[in-house]
Amino acid sequence: MARLAVLLSGSGSNFQALLDNDLQHEIVVCVSNRKNAYGLERAKKAGIDNYVIKEDDALLQLLKEYKVDYIILAGYLKIVSDEVVAAYREKILNIHPSLIPSYSGLGYYGMKIHEAVIENKDEMTGVTIHLVNEGVDTGCVLTQERVYVNPEDTPSSLADRVLEVEHSLYYQIINQYVNFKEEMENEDSAH
Ligand code: GRF
Repeated sequence: MARLAVLLSGSGSNFQALLDNDLQHEIVVCVSNRKNAYGLERAKKAGIDNYVIKEDDALLQLLKEYKVDYIILAGYLKIVSDEVVAAYREKILNIHPSLIPSYSGLGYYGMKIHEAVIENKDEMTGVTIHLVNEGVDTGCVLTQERVYVNPEDTPSSLADRVLEVEHSLYYQIINQYVNFKEEMENEDSAH
């Protein structure tokens, strides 16, 4: 079983979905860069150690103390520094509420994405789960799932449907990816 850290900045509904579903790895710590993030309350209720940390040096130190193997970004609105990416190469996952490369990169997050999708009258949007590298939303895509836009959709109704897909998808992809990596590492160390 791998040790996971969840990083968030806001409501933390994706974090809650990880707690409520069959995640096969252990969330050992939750970190927010914002002190009033509701996700911290969810951590408290679930009995998971939680911290407010704004600096990546302090974050790295904490991840080390908690012997964290993988970092799960769940609505974390801060760009992860190159140092953290280097320390957790191919071990940071993010979930993004669009079909990357559409509506990705600096400035595209949360409601802004859903507003742009409606504004542009797109027929389709969706969810991307990807690895995090030094760029913004440019890491290897692990999975994508489509969500069709209804003619009567508003940004908020669309956000709700996209979020539902996020909740049902993230824990499954984390299980698959972390299990795969752990197997690879076990094989490597057996040789
Ligand atoms: C989600 O749409 C996620 O894809 C994006 O930020 C939002 C976070 O929502 N990265 P929540 O905090 O998990 O409710």
